[in-house]
This record gives sequence, C-alpha cells and structure tokens, in this order.
Amino acid sequence: MAKPKIVICMGSSCFARGNEKTLEACERFMEERGLKDEVDVDLGASLCTGNCADGPVVVADGKVYRHVDAQVMRDILEKTFPERRAP
Ligand code: FES
Repeated sequence: MAKPKIVICMGSSCFARGNEKTLEACERFMEERGLKDEVDVDLGASLCTGNCADGPVVVADGKVYRHVDAQVMRDILEKTFPERRAP
C-alpha cells in the first residue's frame, strides 16, 4: 500500500512566505509521532501548484491547504494522522 504523502511547496514564492518553518514543524511532528518511515514528505520545489498568491501551500493526502504556517501545519498533521490510542 502506498504511503500517505505530504508535499510542502518549496517554490520560491512559498519558500519566501515561510514554508521552511512549515517543513521544520512537519519534521518535528513526524519525529514525535514516530511517523518518519510511514509518511512520504516531498519538498515540491518544482511542484508549484499555481497558488503562489495563496502560499505557503501544502498538499496533504491530495488535499491542498493554503496560507499554511507552522501551527496550521500541526493542525493539518493532527487531522491527517490522529494519535493512535491504546485500545
Ligand atoms: S511557489 Fe508554491 S504554489 Fe507556487
């Protein structure tokens, strides 16, 4: 089965608008939750989605999120990868 995928746009516009902080937040989350090997995190330098004016842009599991900052990134990841609880 394919791994879930997070694309963090690193095109010049999204980068200038702060997606490097989004990437840091994403990496921290993956580490805290032990998801590093479970999720593909793709830095989409060449994947400008054409939404530069609404950047930073992140695509999580096929859904496009706009105006993403570090806190919004955490919220997206919490929603996409809810913490597994013991039964
Ligand atoms: S640079 Fe990110 S959407 Fe264009």
